[in-house]
Amino acid sequence: MIILVTGGTGTLGRRVVDALEQAGADVRSLSRGQRAPLQDHIGIEADLLSKEEIAKALDGVTTVIHCAHDSSTPENSIAGTSNLIEACKTAGVGHFVYIGIAGIETSADFPYYAVKLEEERRIAASGLPYSILRTAQFHTLVHAVLNRLNTAPMLMYVPRGVVLRPVDIRTVAARLADLALGPPRGRCRDLVGPEERPLESLARQWLRARGQWKIVFAFPSRAPGFKAFATLTRGDADKAGPDFALWLAENVQRPRRRR
Ligand SMILES: NC(=O)c1ccc[n+]([C@@H]2O[C@H](COP(=O)([O-])OP(=O)(O)OC[C@H]3O[C@@H](n4cnc5c(N)ncnc54)[C@H](OP(=O)(O)O)[C@@H]3O)[C@@H](O)[C@H]2O)c1
Repeated sequence: MIILVTGGTGTLGRRVVDALEQAGADVRSLSRGQRAPLQDHIGIEADLLSKEEIAKALDGVTTVIHCAHDSSTPENSIAGTSNLIEACKTAGVGHFVYIGIAGIETSADFPYYAVKLEEERRIAASGLPYSILRTAQFHTLVHAVLNRLNTAPMLMYVPRGVVLRPVDIRTVAARLADLALGPPRGRCRDLVGPEERPLESLARQWLRARGQWKIVFAFPSRAPGFKAFATLTRGDADKAGPDFALWLAENVQRPRRRR
């Protein structure tokens, strides 16, 4: 069994590669090598927009975990996924595993989510045996969003009405690795973190962990991204830790006090 992880240098993909290596699987990691160098012994440099490069990368591969995504160019993401699906059919790949986002049907007009839903639709219609796992937002994304909002000196403005169920990326990676090592399951139960939290509550905890003392002020936002975020907690799902507190403890350092 040879498992190819597309986007194997990405935030999620490299954790999936790690999880599979720890499980003793024969794994390959595919990307263009633009955002991070490919892992020496298992890296395959290929662009999903090149049918020839994908065909070569699939030589001997039995299972694909598709984590590659191009958020800056949605049409490239869909084209890359379609190329990959067609190449997997030709190569006789026996299991196509895909990572989706939980709850996005309610915001299907938001361009990023429209891409994700269209990719799921194409996989399900492809005839390939597949597993689709939809998960909530990773702690790393919550951190990135809060970083972007943390611009004012004494206050932190946070959009009102955004409630998330953030999940640990290692938990997601481990679930994807498990799925890839088992039989195709079609659409799986969604996977979310252990807590349902308004963004302002996450922001307060995040600021405390960084040793920043600011007032968090929730404001009504019309930004499409935040509007799309607001309805993601609908739907039943498997809940799994660790929680945001542990992620902060492991990843955020308080500045040292000057004596
Ligand atoms: N972040 C979240 O909270 C969250 C939640 C649920 C689901 N997801 C899904 O998880 C997946 C992975 O997200 P992520 O945050 O790990 O993404 P990411 O860090 O942006 O990684 C994307 C990967 O795709 C590769 N890639 C992009 N275009 C490519 C192309 N044309 N050919 C080959 N490789 C290409 C990139 O490497 P190069 O640029 O070097 O090629 C990189 O390795 C996405 O589908 C996302 O929708 C994310």
